[in-house]
Amino acid sequence: MTDFDEFKAKAKAVWSDFATMENFTGVAAPRLVKFANVSKEQRLLDVAGGTGVVALTAARTGAKVTGSDLTPELVKRAKENNEIFNLDVDFHEADVEDLPFEDESFDVVLSQFGHMFAPRPEVALREMLRVLKPGGNIAFSTWPPELFMGIFFKINAKYGPPPPEGMQSPVLWGNVDIIYERLGSSVSKITFDRDKLVMPGLSVQHVRTVFETTAGPLKKMVQAFASEPNKLTNLRDEIDNAISNYFEDNFLRMDYLMTRARKV
Ligand SMILES: C[S@@+](CC[C@H](N)C(=O)[O-])C[C@H]1O[C@@H](n2cnc3c(N)ncnc32)[C@H](O)[C@@H]1O
Repeated sequence: MTDFDEFKAKAKAVWSDFATMENFTGVAAPRLVKFANVSKEQRLLDVAGGTGVVALTAARTGAKVTGSDLTPELVKRAKENNEIFNLDVDFHEADVEDLPFEDESFDVVLSQFGHMFAPRPEVALREMLRVLKPGGNIAFSTWPPELFMGIFFKINAKYGPPPPEGMQSPVLWGNVDIIYERLGSSVSKITFDRDKLVMPGLSVQHVRTVFETTAGPLKKMVQAFASEPNKLTNLRDEIDNAISNYFEDNFLRMDYLMTRARKV
């Protein structure tokens, strides 16, 4: 097993209960679908799609949608969501670094806060572009490193287990200069936009408690630090401090970046 295989096996466990966040990320899904100019009859692939919030939203436009994610529990929930919607999205368990789809088989490839977590950005992007038809749109939402979620992930990384050697931070996918560099000449018409998600909470501590009980990586860390109260206090202080910079009127504001580009 390589370090990357091991990392992905752990990632599946970390993300396994992300279904509790689907109503939160679900709010951002229609914005990405609109931003990507999804239209009826297009063949669309959503990668690292979790419980299918983007895939199912896109399917309501009449697009022919395939959804995929690494984590079996989330794919199971995506299939249940599909039943509730009474739609016919085809959901698969799939690693974005090794997509089980034919070359040039989709008109649109999307990822919302998803492909950014693959340990090798160049491999994930190569796969997303491989399955996209020339002239098709790739679009994704990512967290910028300098804003709340970027800072939150940095704190998690500081207290969490070390990543595989050479792995780059997921939030570099939220930096426009790096996005230009990574997309390079395989695409044209790179376009950016920004939007925000909010998390309601009566206080900074209430919001932190929501993250502690729902955000996979932090939830696992809080459990692991049960016997190390000093570490837990330091971790909580850093998170509270980060939240307080973006907390106003009883909600936390989380700004994110959307990127769209056309495969040449
Ligand atoms: C923050 S969640 C976002 C899920 C969904 N896109 C949404 O907006 O609700 C990150 C997702 O990335 C998935 N993921 C992480 N690494 C992955 C990989 N290598 N290949 C595919 N999916 C992956 C996780 O299973 C999880 O569902």
